Amino acid sequence: MLTSYPSQLPPLYDTAPYIVVGSGIAGLAMALELSKHQRVILITKSSVNESNTTYAQGGIASALDLHDSPELHYQDTMMAGAGLCDPEAVLALVYDGPERVRHLIDIGVPFDRDSENNLSLTREAAHSRRRILHANGDATGRAITQTLIRLVVNSPQITVYENHFGLGLATVNGRCCGLVALFQNEPRLFLSSVVALCTGGLGQIYGSTTNPPIATGDGMALAYLAGARLKDLEFVQFHPTALALPPAPPFLISETVRGEGAILLNGKGHRFMPEYHPLAELAPRDIVARGIFAEIQKGNQPVYLDLSKIPPATVRSRFPNIYETCLRYRLDISANPIPVAPAAHYVMGGVETDLFGRTAVPGLFAAGETACTGVHGANRLASNSLLEGLVFGGRAADYLKEQPITIPEISEEIQIHYPPRYTEYADMAKDYRRLRELTDNFLGIVRNATGLSRAKEQLESISAAVGPFAWDPAYFELQNMFLLASLMFDAALTRTESRGGHYRDDYPPPQSHWRKHLVFHQSTKEVIG
Ligand code: SIN
Repeated sequence: MLTSYPSQLPPLYDTAPYIVVGSGIAGLAMALELSKHQRVILITKSSVNESNTTYAQGGIASALDLHDSPELHYQDTMMAGAGLCDPEAVLALVYDGPERVRHLIDIGVPFDRDSENNLSLTREAAHSRRRILHANGDATGRAITQTLIRLVVNSPQITVYENHFGLGLATVNGRCCGLVALFQNEPRLFLSSVVALCTGGLGQIYGSTTNPPIATGDGMALAYLAGARLKDLEFVQFHPTALALPPAPPFLISETVRGEGAILLNGKGHRFMPEYHPLAELAPRDIVARGIFAEIQKGNQPVYLDLSKIPPATVRSRFPNIYETCLRYRLDISANPIPVAPAAHYVMGGVETDLFGRTAVPGLFAAGETACTGVHGANRLASNSLLEGLVFGGRAADYLKEQPITIPEISEEIQIHYPPRYTEYADMAKDYRRLRELTDNFLGIVRNATGLSRAKEQLESISAAVGPFAWDPAYFELQNMFLLASLMFDAALTRTESRGGHYRDDYPPPQSHWRKHLVFHQSTKEVIG
């Protein structure tokens, strides 16, 4: 047990021009691109195979079809973002996207093809064209990461450190120059010219989430503690259709199932989505999620995803991953409807970056779900997340290859930005359960001032105790989640309107004066236009 952080630096373990943290599509794509130039250290808190990307089912959106164009993809993305997308960032996404996706094809990602060997493109909610590439049916993320990981582990220029948990960023004279990572409960120092955080999202702050256990928001917390800005944290996307078959976890039932013709029925067998939006099941995600939530609130549960319009053989071949998973819980989806409910899926906000992944801290970069590039605004268009990781991971690498490299010597000037509180949780499991109850109940699909302020107070009283602590990643993950949840409650309380993934039943209409962003920086909160 420790009562304070050691004043001396942990032992120096390795140095390289670039440190990339995280092994999803953004981190892998960035590391590969940087490795063409200089040596890269890739740090990941679990196995290199474990990331949010690995679980992505539906696919990656890109305007590759003759009947599609980046301009149409731009319009759909802007429309979904409900007035808060950054147009420049969306242009970079949709115009860079096709070339970077073609590169994935060139390096061997096995995207599915039709009988004439053309790419098989599907449609998802709020896309005006069929533009979603998928692989192995509904295992797109895994196909992409496996291809990239093969190249990463075979690259002599990349050293992968698995099971290394990023604990605090290192800075010298305000510039990021490395990080401290925990390995087998021992802190190790890594120094570099640049650190890029590609650590994914924070779905695990919710009890009901489609995200894997690693998604605890670590990169966002690390960046904030080192002086970066966190933006748009109130915008959380709830996936409309997660499996609702307890005790099965809320496993993702891909939107592409609706894209291929499945419809939603309430417990009375009534197709309700046309009453909520003209695009019915293919309306933007927030609208479908709120439609399902409203039916459940009215007592019309369970809500089912009815696949009867899709031939059973197609269900099995097109969605093998979902089919096999549901079968493990004794549900044959080629013959039965799937009980579904919304679950936390993606956070639109994150570490504020520019179009090259630069954050407010010199030398610190971010990409993928960790970052807030501005492409998603208040609500992300389906299958734009893998594309964002690929495009902005690549753009950051392209930028960095042109920059001078400076790796500092060990000195007393180096400062480590450890989490500020030294809290030993008497019962970490209980506090974690409590955190997730507060987020599920009060920071969910429908929010209001009473619930948000009461929950925020309770959250802060749980996380305020001070005491000894241990070098245990689980302890720091919980610290990170408490920190982020507290900022998210604050942001959700401050935004007195409804927009995209943020819905307040005490302020239902969007307000033109709220076409703005909320940014947290050290202990301040700013509204920017
Ligand atoms: C899905 O397959 O429905 C998830 C895709 C996404 O979140 O973009």
